[in-house]
Amino acid sequence: MVGLQGSGKSTWVAEHLAGTHVVVSKDQWPNARRREARQRRVVAEALAEGASVVVDNTNPSPADRAPFVELARAAGVPARAVHLDVPLGTCLARNDARTGRARVPPVGVFSTRARLTPPSTAEGFAEVLVVRD
Ligand SMILES: Nc1ncnc2c1ncn2[C@@H]1O[C@H](COP(=O)(O)OP(=O)(O)O)[C@@H](O)[C@H]1O
Ligand SMILES: [Mg+2]
Repeated sequence: MVGLQGSGKSTWVAEHLAGTHVVVSKDQWPNARRREARQRRVVAEALAEGASVVVDNTNPSPADRAPFVELARAAGVPARAVHLDVPLGTCLARNDARTGRARVPPVGVFSTRARLTPPSTAEGFAEVLVVRD
């Protein structure tokens, strides 16, 4: 998954992938150190067991996504990017409407926006799906 905080990634995953994929997110370990390494390990283990996996993070840059493209390649399965291409203002409004830990400081959304590069097949994805609403 690729998209700003509040773009609707987790909702999309729940509607389209939760029945068929192991859902992995760094949000599962909010306080752990080395969450990225831990997440890569969990993805690798699920792939090794033959499961399909979705990584439900913002994944804004090619550098963020490259480890997962590589894990998929190593496992011999295609990698697909799903980009929730939702306007910044919509994401900020949805974020603002949340409560508790689900609401992040707006600066976090701006920061992700500044780093966001749309995913491309040039990164090794077999397919890029753009979702707009
Ligand atoms: N297509 C949509 N239209 C309107 N609201 C949505 C849509 N998708 C998600 N939302 C709402 O926006 C908020 C953020 O959605 P969420 O899926 O948690 O985003 P993300 O996982 O990208 O942070 C939630 O309150 C959710 O109910
Ligand atoms: Mg989410």
